[in-house]
Amino acid sequence: MAMKSMYDICVIGGCGHAGLPLGLAFANQGKRVVLYDTNEKAVNGINAKRMPFLEEGGSEVLTRTVDSNLLSATTDIGVIEGTPVLIIVIGTPVDEHLNPRLNDVMEVVHQIVGHLNDEQLLILRSTLYPGVTIKINEFIRSLGKKTGVAFCPERIAEGRGLQELTTLPQIVSGCDSQSAERAKALFSVLTTDLVELSPTEAEFAKLFTNAWRYLNFAISNQFYMIANSHGLDFHKIYHAMTQNYGRLQGFAKPGFAAGPCLFKDTMQLSAASNNNFFMGHAAMLVNEGMPNFLIEKLKAKFLLKEKVVGILGMAFKANSDDSRESLAFKLKKLLELEAAKVLCTDPYIYQSGFVGTDTLLKESDIVILAAPHSEYKTLSIKGKYVVDIWNFFDDGAGLV
Ligand SMILES: NC(=O)c1ccc[n+]([C@@H]2O[C@H](COP(=O)([O-])OP(=O)(O)OC[C@H]3O[C@@H](n4cnc5c(N)ncnc54)[C@H](O)[C@@H]3O)[C@@H](O)[C@H]2O)c1
Repeated sequence: MAMKSMYDICVIGGCGHAGLPLGLAFANQGKRVVLYDTNEKAVNGINAKRMPFLEEGGSEVLTRTVDSNLLSATTDIGVIEGTPVLIIVIGTPVDEHLNPRLNDVMEVVHQIVGHLNDEQLLILRSTLYPGVTIKINEFIRSLGKKTGVAFCPERIAEGRGLQELTTLPQIVSGCDSQSAERAKALFSVLTTDLVELSPTEAEFAKLFTNAWRYLNFAISNQFYMIANSHGLDFHKIYHAMTQNYGRLQGFAKPGFAAGPCLFKDTMQLSAASNNNFFMGHAAMLVNEGMPNFLIEKLKAKFLLKEKVVGILGMAFKANSDDSRESLAFKLKKLLELEAAKVLCTDPYIYQSGFVGTDTLLKESDIVILAAPHSEYKTLSIKGKYVVDIWNFFDDGAGLV
């Protein structure tokens, strides 16, 4: 007889950028959720009702669900025992060869497998290399356990997860029909919009989704570079192309395209196609090449080694405090080889050596916008040489 748990759901990696919004969303629907995570600082913060990162609406739901005992966090792996649904959402990065680090997920499975019983459902939510769900299912079966296994990929945009978890369709898949039905029943608490696939189809669906977005940004970024190299303002052309022209709906705007998901998932897809995903690699060269492009253009215009260059916004995207895989840091590294001095600022990221926005604007000869945070909208940039790939300041400063 399986031990009865005081929780409905345990999110493994539950204090992370994908795990926490998911835990909050389920707790917000009345589920009793425990977040199991190895990050003690984040666990303590969450139990003290402090969000570890920016998440729209997160603080309010966190406070309410902790106060009503629906949500708690722990570093004790024992909470897995008997909890009916376990959801793994740990990070799945790529290695130094840009291949998936499969060991990370397999290690977690090895850590928890001794705690699993036959009535539990194990849902894999991390973005997985195709075939991993079936491999994990086979491993659990090889130990004589009947724990159900499902793969239900996370597709939220970081920072807006809480809202998107109840508005986006949920892709669900199970290694057997009962696991698929249980996964559907669970996610129907968040939305009625459920799409069922087989586990491997679902793994590809997630990778295709992110690779499509990454390619879409690369198209725009390459067009931006081409237009710029001809002395033309790409934003003016973009506006003309898209105005009242439905077929270009979804055409991304240029900008730094990086962060913890799109790049690595495009590379995971490449690894899943024997490194023959040429469009993915081309997109990587374009997107990762944007800082180099900007510097080459600036070098053609200025004696950079005599200039102070300020980088405005260090997060990987606007209105985020996440600096993981941010191209602003690549830009910083490259500039440090070329410019007299490099200044960095970000309202959400505190790092030694960073300066305040006012200081950066005052002391820089050239300012490069690297994360278009909303609070920059009201900055007075008149008289500055500003590089603005997004045309965020809407002043025709898009040209490098
Ligand atoms: N960040 C997003 O918005 C987002 C969106 C869609 C999909 N995803 C996918 O979700 C997965 C997680 O990404 P993330 O951005 O949330 O990563 P993250 O690093 O923010 O979170 C992972 C969490 O797992 C914890 N962890 C690591 N190893 C553990 C272990 N052995 N046991 C328990 N906890 C452990 C970490 O401490 C961390 O809190 C990845 O596969 C990612 O591709 C993320």
